[in-house]
Amino acid sequence: MASPEDERIVSPRARPDEGSFEPGLRPRSFDQYIGQGAVVERLRIFIEAARDRAEPLDHVLLSGPPGLGKTTLAYVIANEMKVGIRVTSGPAIERPGDLAAILTNLSDRDVLFIDEVHRLGRTVEEILYPAMEEYALDIIIGRGPSARSIRLDLPRFTLVGATTRAGLITSPMRDRFGVVLRLDFYSQEDLSRIVTRSAGILGIDLAPEGAGEIARRSRGTPRVANRLLRRIRDYAQVRGTGRITVEAAREGLRLLDIDEHGLDPVDRRMLLSMADKFGGGPVGLDTIAASISEESQTVEDVYEPFLLQLGFIMRTPRGRVLTGPAYEHIGRRPPPGVAQGRPSQPALWDEVEGE
Ligand SMILES: Nc1ncnc2c1ncn2[C@@H]1O[C@H](COP(=O)(O)OP(=O)(O)OP(=O)(O)O)[C@@H](O)[C@H]1O
Ligand SMILES: [Mg+2]
Repeated sequence: MASPEDERIVSPRARPDEGSFEPGLRPRSFDQYIGQGAVVERLRIFIEAARDRAEPLDHVLLSGPPGLGKTTLAYVIANEMKVGIRVTSGPAIERPGDLAAILTNLSDRDVLFIDEVHRLGRTVEEILYPAMEEYALDIIIGRGPSARSIRLDLPRFTLVGATTRAGLITSPMRDRFGVVLRLDFYSQEDLSRIVTRSAGILGIDLAPEGAGEIARRSRGTPRVANRLLRRIRDYAQVRGTGRITVEAAREGLRLLDIDEHGLDPVDRRMLLSMADKFGGGPVGLDTIAASISEESQTVEDVYEPFLLQLGFIMRTPRGRVLTGPAYEHIGRRPPPGVAQGRPSQPALWDEVEGE
């Protein structure tokens, strides 16, 4: 059964058709990589230091919700290190031999990018430990009493691991990353710069206020911003002058059923269901997911992070709770005891005031 998430225009997950155009929009260097200031500043220093010493960069773990630029950053790291990059993913490395083949084929100081690094199998992970620590591979030759272990030297390399679920990384694995970085949702200003840059690459006529409007409703996520840009370009071309003005952006977003906060009908259904069926919570994740015919894990990884960021829901030990601003947003009166007013994280909230 297709889940609602498969159809959502505001999903932060990559859609199958995006493989063809995303690479063209992907920043290649730190100078092109917009936002994530603290992460970039640290990486710049570590990379410069490693290059001066002609050493590989320490292993880097990147975590954060989908579509925030983890894969992009892995390519930037390799590019800035002026080394090669080999790309794979946790589920793609099925047997220890697969990993051994990849590792022995790297060149000195190359980046090995493992996406979804939390999904590596246990035996594969155990091969990775000595590889990360000592650039060595322990392999067993033969069977039974005559079996012996030999140690193979590997090229020095940098493992860049990416995960949307930092909590699922085993602790021995996490301990072997020298650099652990978390990507955050982008500010409206950064997203505005991102869509403006993308419009330049794609030859789209985008007014600054049009960029601001798209940025504001992109759920803090560059992938969503770029996708909305392409959809609204279609609208502006067919119904308007071709230029994405603020009016064209608003009208396009209305047709896409994306509201002032970037929420779509599935988000709103979820909030309404929490309010109307569960008295605003606390309600368990599984129950919420079932109410919108979605998998719990998808709700946790994909829907919830942005609703938490907006301050529309809170996580409590007994389940999720709807906040005052969420009630206000869906046009329901909050039950007594639910604070009206502003959420605790004002970052995105401040930007939508004054409409
Ligand atoms: N800092 C940035 N500046 C400009 N564009 C960006 C930035 N980060 C991401 N993007 C754009 O967003 C798209 C999605 O980024 P990317 O594929 O790196 O996300 P991801 O975190 O790896 O997502 P996933 O968790 O789904 O693998 C990229 O193709 C790129 O065009
Ligand atoms: Mg990725």
